[in-house]
Amino acid sequence: MTHELTATSLASASSNATGNGGWWRDAVIYQVYVRSFADSDGDGVGDLRGVRERLPHLARLGVDAVWLTPFYVSPQADGGYDVADYRAVDPLFGTLADTDDLVRAAHAIGLRVIVDVVPNHTSERHPWFRAALAGEPGARERYLFRPGRGADGAEPPNDWESVFGGPAWSRVPDGDWYLHLFAPEQPDLDWEHPEVAEEFASVLRFWLDLGVDGFRVDVAHGMVKAPGLPDIGRGAQATLIGTEPLPFFDQDGVHEIHRSWRRLLDSYGDGRIGVAEAWAPTSERLALYVRPDELHQAFNFRFLTCPWDPEAMRTVIDESLAATASVGAPTTWVLSNHDVVRHVTRYGGGARGLARARAAALLMLALPGSAYVYQGEELGLPEVADLPDELRRDPAFHRSAGQDGLRDGCRVPIPWAGGGAPYGFGPGGSWLPQPADWAGLTVQTQTGDPHSTLELYRAALELRRALPGLGAPEAGRELPGKRDPYGMRWLPAPEGVLLFTRPGFACTVNTRGAVVELPSPGRPVLSSSPVATDGRTVRLPADSCTWWAI
Ligand code: NOJ
Repeated sequence: MTHELTATSLASASSNATGNGGWWRDAVIYQVYVRSFADSDGDGVGDLRGVRERLPHLARLGVDAVWLTPFYVSPQADGGYDVADYRAVDPLFGTLADTDDLVRAAHAIGLRVIVDVVPNHTSERHPWFRAALAGEPGARERYLFRPGRGADGAEPPNDWESVFGGPAWSRVPDGDWYLHLFAPEQPDLDWEHPEVAEEFASVLRFWLDLGVDGFRVDVAHGMVKAPGLPDIGRGAQATLIGTEPLPFFDQDGVHEIHRSWRRLLDSYGDGRIGVAEAWAPTSERLALYVRPDELHQAFNFRFLTCPWDPEAMRTVIDESLAATASVGAPTTWVLSNHDVVRHVTRYGGGARGLARARAAALLMLALPGSAYVYQGEELGLPEVADLPDELRRDPAFHRSAGQDGLRDGCRVPIPWAGGGAPYGFGPGGSWLPQPADWAGLTVQTQTGDPHSTLELYRAALELRRALPGLGAPEAGRELPGKRDPYGMRWLPAPEGVLLFTRPGFACTVNTRGAVVELPSPGRPVLSSSPVATDGRTVRLPADSCTWWAI
């Protein structure tokens, strides 16, 4: 069933100077949150056929690959990150044939397809966990069951707290406790059990044989826990994007799993990749996940969490590039995803938030390495804050009495066209209501408007392919430890302004809320806000980023 990218599509799928073997080194990868992208059957929930029908949008946008969030059989206790059958498609999203059609259609237009794999935990409805609950001999050993502490074992086995709030342990009727770093419906697997590793190797092969180009590895830093599951001693709660050293994250043992997965991916021999969703305390710890014999990429959440501050941004950029260059891997840049407040809103919302979000996107796309674009960011969508509680699906919201409901507002379905909800999302409604004022944000409205965020992204992605100094022309050839593998240089600039060059190219970011004047670095080729230049001096608008040919 494996299918190949066509020769023509291959040419367009690998950007400028990087060969096909290293396509991922400077790829722009678009995240599709399937439930909210496009609904083909009118049930209000996005699906795989909907994604296929909307592939032309991605082709026109100019991305290299698409990452699909989980569409496997699942009770949907955590948006599909609770998988009950890793080899089957949930009827909510379609069928295996729909997946095959989607992968073929994407390949035919030069788009690669990455799918999620969720190895840290299963759903409580997975046959293994059902067997564990039913008391089948040996079945509990695939999970982390432990006796409780205190009188009658009524206290959890240790003091770990779940990422979604509350204890990371739940008790079953016979008195044992099981570990769940996330919701109780997501029991953690014990990766010391040989069947767990065997099963996941087989799951990876299943999807690779179907033709997918790689995997986004969920909680890639969590599968191995510190021996003895020690107390933290202060009841620390893990956060979704955290940097604290914890006994259940970023343990050295996880790297053996990634090495075995890399061998498996390489055995397919044609550019299949793994990207780690890993939260490590430092850029150096994160770089360990992308050593030459481990995964190909890791999400760089330090860029996402960085404030709109020039010093902080420059530090994150320098440290990220240095850490990955030291192991010969590309850096990734991420501004948004389905777990965080959309960056228009994080940057302050309104006109200012949008200006900064547009500038941040141009900055991200000018940097060496691979960039991730979360669906809707190319439309400048803000977070939707006023969703009715009863419609929210984020388990974190419901487990924290509404204190932590940060993940539904970025998952509101995409507005495609038309003057009112569901804005072309599908023939029916949409599982979360879209705001009444989104008519101006649809793909249809923004298309052809030279000032729109959509046209800015389209132009940036086109230029990124065309300008020889962008992308990662040196990638794959850099020497570990070399300080400047991408020919990137910071130049002196007025306070609040970042200015760097790459071969034939310069980028300025004015982070101030006021115009800043400086000598023109070259000929402006793209700007997030109109720049005024007389050829010698330039007036950089507030909160803007400009690309220059030099
Ligand atoms: C990270 C995913 O991005 C998030 O949505 C999910 O809740 C957790 N992993 C648990 O699988």
